[in-house]
Amino acid sequence: MGTLPKVLGFSLALTLVFTVTANLLPQVEGEPPKEEKVDLGALTMDSFIALGESAFNGKGTCTLCHNNLGRAPDLLEMNVGEAAKERLADSRYQGKASDIEGYLRESMTDPSIYVVAGFGKKGSNDTESPMPAVDKKPIELSAVQIDAIIAFLQSKDGNEVTVALPTEAAVEDSEPTGTVAATPAVAAAATVEEAIAKYGCSACHSVYDTESPVGPDLRDVGSRLGEEEIRQSIIDPAAVIAEGFPAIMPANFAERMTVKELGLLVQGLAAMQ
Ligand code: HEC
Ligand code: HEC
Repeated sequence: MGTLPKVLGFSLALTLVFTVTANLLPQVEGEPPKEEKVDLGALTMDSFIALGESAFNGKGTCTLCHNNLGRAPDLLEMNVGEAAKERLADSRYQGKASDIEGYLRESMTDPSIYVVAGFGKKGSNDTESPMPAVDKKPIELSAVQIDAIIAFLQSKDGNEVTVALPTEAAVEDSEPTGTVAATPAVAAAATVEEAIAKYGCSACHSVYDTESPVGPDLRDVGSRLGEEEIRQSIIDPAAVIAEGFPAIMPANFAERMTVKELGLLVQGLAAMQ
């Protein structure tokens, strides 16, 4: 076999595909998300970090909880490297990590190994984390995406980035379907189930067969609220705060959803009696 086919096969295998979801206003019908292809051979640490940042804000749904509303440590504001060193030195720490990179990876894939004081599930006395393992459903990040997020978290405060750029083998391993997409395209949701999964509503609400005590149970929301009230709860959550709950529902769904997705959610939730 000549070198040309080999070279071609190699650069194809080394192509990462990731997606930048366009900011979709609810006033307009959604366009399909843009896909960006990155040649792994030409991937620099800077673009890997950018990929991590987009997974942090997008597919990872990290900012649903990690923000300035107090539900989880504000990773964007704090120095994550310094915090990791403190956690590792804490006498309560019983995980396997010995450095910042290891701590961050463990925090994402096995959140209950160490629970930051005051942030545990209610009644668990900080032994159980409310954070879902991000390599499992519904978030399901690949190993490459997790590495990219670690690189982003290390770099944003000027700490040393210790994760290595992904190799061809790592990309193949982390994509069981045989594709090399680092972030699969987030298409516009076509059903209410898809919309709930896409926007991470079940991180905070009990809905279908998942339970979360952070916000009101949505399985019977249609018996409490009409369509207009549900619409307002989604696009302007601060307008009416459900009694007994903290005002921490993200306020930016209106900017992120298409008109059609919002309509699906409003009708779908109103039908949940
Ligand atoms: C449903 C809410 C939720 C989501 C989504 C979430 N986290 Fe968390 N996370 C938490 C909470 C609460 C804690 C603190 C309790 C603990 O230590 O597990 C935490 C802890 C952490 C820590 C340890 C912080 C420290 O101060 O030691 C890291 C790192 C982290 N999360 C990263 C992530 C990343 C990256 C994502 C997205 C891929 C993510 N989390 C998604 C709720 C969440
Ligand atoms: C970070 C947590 C969080 C996420 C993510 C979240 N919510 Fe909420 N939601 C809440 C909390 C807490 C409340 C109660 C406080 C309030 O009314 O703002 C609430 C209130 C609501 C209400 C009003 C319920 C009632 O009984 O009054 C609806 C409807 C709702 N959310 C729908 C959604 C939908 C749909 C999504 C996903 C697109 C979503 N939420 C995502 C936390 C969240």
